[in-house]
Amino acid sequence: MPESFFVLSKDNLNLATDEIIAISKMYDRFSKIKVISNLVIIQSKTNWSKISNRATFVKVSGQILRKMSGLFLDEGNFEILKNAKSFVCRIINISSNQFNVPELENSMGDMISKFSHAKVKLVNPDITVYLIFTDKENFFGFSKRIKEEVRPKKIKKYPHELDWKLTRVMINLIGLKKGEIICDPFCGTGTTLLEAESMGIHAIGIDFDKKMCEITKENLKINKYKSEIINSDFQEMVKISEKYDGIVTDLPYGRSSKASEKPEEILKRFISILPKRKKIAIMYKKELESNLKLKGLKKYEIYRHKSLTRTILIK
Ligand SMILES: C[S@@+](CC[C@H](N)C(=O)[O-])C[C@H]1O[C@@H](n2cnc3c(N)ncnc32)[C@H](O)[C@@H]1O
Repeated sequence: MPESFFVLSKDNLNLATDEIIAISKMYDRFSKIKVISNLVIIQSKTNWSKISNRATFVKVSGQILRKMSGLFLDEGNFEILKNAKSFVCRIINISSNQFNVPELENSMGDMISKFSHAKVKLVNPDITVYLIFTDKENFFGFSKRIKEEVRPKKIKKYPHELDWKLTRVMINLIGLKKGEIICDPFCGTGTTLLEAESMGIHAIGIDFDKKMCEITKENLKINKYKSEIINSDFQEMVKISEKYDGIVTDLPYGRSSKASEKPEEILKRFISILPKRKKIAIMYKKELESNLKLKGLKKYEIYRHKSLTRTILIK
C-alpha cells in the first residue's frame, strides 16, 4: 500500500495532527498512521495529493518511495524523473542530527543530474525530491506539482467572521465527506458554507440577524454556490435535523456581533438541544464554558490574545 508523508505547521500541532488523521480515516478507514513530531507518515490507498488538498495545516507533502538505512541513492530511485523537465531536492530534517541542508541539497541535485535529463529549478519544478531524516529511519520521497486550489471569494466581510483555516479544520475533524450536508446555525457571513462548498459539501446556514443572512447570500452568489440560508433562531436546527449530517459552528462571543441573549445563555441553550447521532464541531470563547456539563468530547484550545482563547469541541 502506498505511503505518503505530511510535514505539518507547528502552530496548533495537535489540531493539525488530528486533522490529517481524520482526513486519511475519512477516505480510507484502514489507513495506518505514524506520527513523528510534525511529520506524519500515512499508509493508505488514498493518494497523498487528495489528502493534502483537503488539509489546512500541511506545509509539505508527497509520496514515499522507500525507506533508507543511509544516504544511498542509485539510478533506480530516479524513475520518477523520467518525464520531468525540472526538479529540486529538499531535505527535511526531523532528527536530532545537524546537517548542512543547502550543501546536502546541492550535492543531491548534482548526483541526480548525472542520472536524469531534468534540470534543477528552484521555484515550481515538475518534481520535488525529498530526503527525510528522523532519529529512527530515513525516507526517500517525491511530490509532483499540483494545481493550487481556487479559494472561495468573500465580497462581504464583518469583524466577527471566523478565519477560514479554523473553519476548514473543524469540518475536517468531523470527517464530513463530499456529498454530505453540513449545518451552521450561527452562520454570520457564511464562512462555513463557503468552506464546505469548496470541498463539495452542501451547507445550510441559519442566522437570526437578517443582515447576516443577506451577507451570506451575496458571498455564496459570487462563488455560484447553492447552499441554503434560513433567517431564524438557531433552534431551527432541531426542526431540520433530518436534512444534514453534521454541525460546524462558531457561537457568538458577545462583542461586535448581535446576539439574541447573553453569549453564555446561548451556549447553554445550544448544547442542551444538540441533535444526537450527528457529527459536531463547535467553537466558542473559552470563558463562556464554566457552567457547561460536557463529557466525552475532544477539546482543543486556541490562544489568540490575552482576552480571547477559543475552545473547539468535537463529537
Ligand atoms: C461569531 S458570529 C459567527 C461568525 C461566522 N462563523 C462567520 O465566519 O461569519 C455569531 C453569529 O451568531 C448570530 N446569532 C446570535 N444569536 C443568534 C441566535 N439566537 N440564533 C441564530 N443566530 C444567532 C449572530 O448574528 C452572528 O452572525
